[in-house]
Amino acid sequence: MKLFDVYPLFDIEIVRGRGCYTYDSHGTEYLDLYGGHAVISVGHSHPHYVQAIKEQAERLVFYSNSVVNSLQQRLADKLGRVSGYDDYQLFLINSGAEANENALKLASFHTARRRVVSFSKAFHGRTSLAVEATDNPRIVSPVNDNGNVTFLPLNDIYAVRAELSKGDVCAVIIEGIQGVGGIQIPTAEFLQQLREECDKHGTVLILDEIQSGYGRSGRFFAHQWAGIRPDIITVAKGIANGFPMGAVLISPKFKPVYGMLGTTFGGNHLACAAAIAVLDIFEQEGLVENARRVGDHLLEELAGIPQIKEVRGRGLMIGIEMEQPVKELRTRLLMEQHVFTGVSGTNVIRLLPPLVLTMEQADEFLRRFKLCLENYGK
Ligand SMILES: Cc1ncc(COP(=O)(O)O)c(C=O)c1O
Repeated sequence: MKLFDVYPLFDIEIVRGRGCYTYDSHGTEYLDLYGGHAVISVGHSHPHYVQAIKEQAERLVFYSNSVVNSLQQRLADKLGRVSGYDDYQLFLINSGAEANENALKLASFHTARRRVVSFSKAFHGRTSLAVEATDNPRIVSPVNDNGNVTFLPLNDIYAVRAELSKGDVCAVIIEGIQGVGGIQIPTAEFLQQLREECDKHGTVLILDEIQSGYGRSGRFFAHQWAGIRPDIITVAKGIANGFPMGAVLISPKFKPVYGMLGTTFGGNHLACAAAIAVLDIFEQEGLVENARRVGDHLLEELAGIPQIKEVRGRGLMIGIEMEQPVKELRTRLLMEQHVFTGVSGTNVIRLLPPLVLTMEQADEFLRRFKLCLENYGK
């Protein structure tokens, strides 16, 4: 059987990882400034994480959500404390798209409405309503295109006001910082006004923190820079450092009903053990503070590089916008300098490293990046 060929691949096979480094099948070492799409939070194969998964796998990998799984409550307690959302409720699933599906579904159940507001350049996943709320017609199939979603310009509160005043919008969904859209940051003022407008019109405010959350921005959630509290927060990616997991944090105003949401694999024992180990490491190693400190350093240094058009970001979620397309630059970074980075659109290099990135590793990246820039665009 052939693989369904939907991914343009670099001809590199990564077989091993440690901290912020990965190694290919020939033993070549790569500095990882991408964390495999922002997934690696505590570093590759962190010893505490590996030990926790090993011990849990030896005990029990899975049993269904029809019996008590105290690991789920342990995770909820820890996440509530670390994130500042102790009073919220936790629903566990397996991916980011699934987190957003459940968040939107909950908003629709709660309000008995069906329209959703999303924003230009938004990315919320590839399934059903999550993809309909994604601003990329190329990945929305006819069956997903049900006319439920209206896209508005980011940071335009007048457009939001006009739409919400129609009284039929169940949810506004917004990323803490847009990732796929090229590291676009909603202003604090916009998020605060959005909170007010949603309250005024009985609309549920959903913060998609799948890429920008879990410490990446230098706060636990990126929206915490604006001092707001959403009704629902979605997370995935770094939550279990590569073990597939997603979660929905739900305000106390939503009352659960048996059977309303559900999943086979969500919140399984192995996933919970991985996610608890991740939060242990966050606390032991001060990773949110590290993301802020090392991120500030990178942002400052990158801002001083003349070939760069604009640097955007917070913490270890950084977009480097160039005048020219970055495809060749990214390939040279990988093939010649052995540095993994990502892209957004045609002109933005995206940095989403593990949150354990050290100052020395950040400087090593800057050195290799500058070497690539020497001949770029000539
Ligand atoms: C902001 C955001 N939301 C949702 C998703 C979808 O997550 P998943 O690929 O785990 O379904 C992504 C993935 O890149 C994302 O960046």
